[in-house]
Parts: sequence; C-alpha cells; structure tokens
Amino acid sequence: METTLAIVKPDGVRRGLIGEILRRYENKGLRLKAAKIITPTIELLEKHYEEHKGKPYYEPLIKYMSSGPVFAMVLEGENAVTLVRLLNGATKVEEALPGTIRGDFASQTTYNIIHGSDSIESAKREIALWFPELA
Ligand code: PPS
Repeated sequence: METTLAIVKPDGVRRGLIGEILRRYENKGLRLKAAKIITPTIELLEKHYEEHKGKPYYEPLIKYMSSGPVFAMVLEGENAVTLVRLLNGATKVEEALPGTIRGDFASQTTYNIIHGSDSIESAKREIALWFPELA
C-alpha cells in the first residue's frame, strides 16, 4: 500500500480549509494515517525544499511556509501519490483546473494552498522528515 505526504499550507489553514481538503482525500478513498499541526522551522523547510534552492521562488516559498501553522498529513491508499497530486491540481494556478483544490481555492502560485509529494521516493523522504516518529 502506498503512502504520501500532503501539507495544507499556511493560507489554507488560515482560511479554514483543512476539513474541506481532508474530505476530498477521504472521499477519494484515501485513509488518514497520521496528522499534525505545526509551524515548520526554517531548518525543516530547507531540507524539504532542498532541490529548489537557487530558484527565484525559493526564498519567498520558505518565508511563506514558515509564516504560520500548517497541517501535515500522511495518507495511505492505492496510488496515493498520484491521487493526491491529481486532487491538488497543477502547481501553477493558471493551469489548475476547476474541481481541483488549487483550481477551486488558489489564485496565486506562491499561495497554492496544498503540497503533495511528487513521487514514491519523495514521499518516503518527506514522511521521514515531517514524521520521524513513524520510522
Ligand atoms: S511540482 O508541483 O512538482 O510540479 O512543482 P515543482 O516545480 O517541482 O515545485 C515547486 C515548488 O515551489 C512552489 N512554488 C512555485 N513553483 C513554481 N513557480 C512559482 N512561482 C512558485 N512559487 C512557489 C510550488 O508550489 C512547489 O512547492 P509544493 O510545496 O510542492 O507545492
């Protein structure tokens, strides 16, 4: 069974979207295995986004992600990685289709509400970072 990491970003938490987002994942058949609300440290975020270091959006992304509480969750199910990415919608908000989380709720790419691991390998790495207690 596959597991993946999804994170409701600070604007999603501030806007009260945790329940709505979790409902979409659960409706699709994914199961919540672990969850926590935390304000991530810069150290954690630098590790999480290490492959993006040097990109023009990197510094604003780290600043934004550390600006308040996020809701991090481990979801389990068949094809969990792909399903979460599908439900999240495209990274760039102008490409995110209506019916997806970003398509329905995000209007700026920087504040695109939700993160989902992009592969099984990323999911393993990210779950170990955010939920070391599950190891
Ligand atoms: S993706 O989702 O894998 O296709 O996107 P990727 O390019 O690998 O990840 C980029 C992460 O940086 C966030 N971000 C931006 N990406 C592109 N352009 C802009 N302007 C931008 N601003 C922020 C993007 O949301 C990805 O982070 P996560 O947390 O995965 O959503």
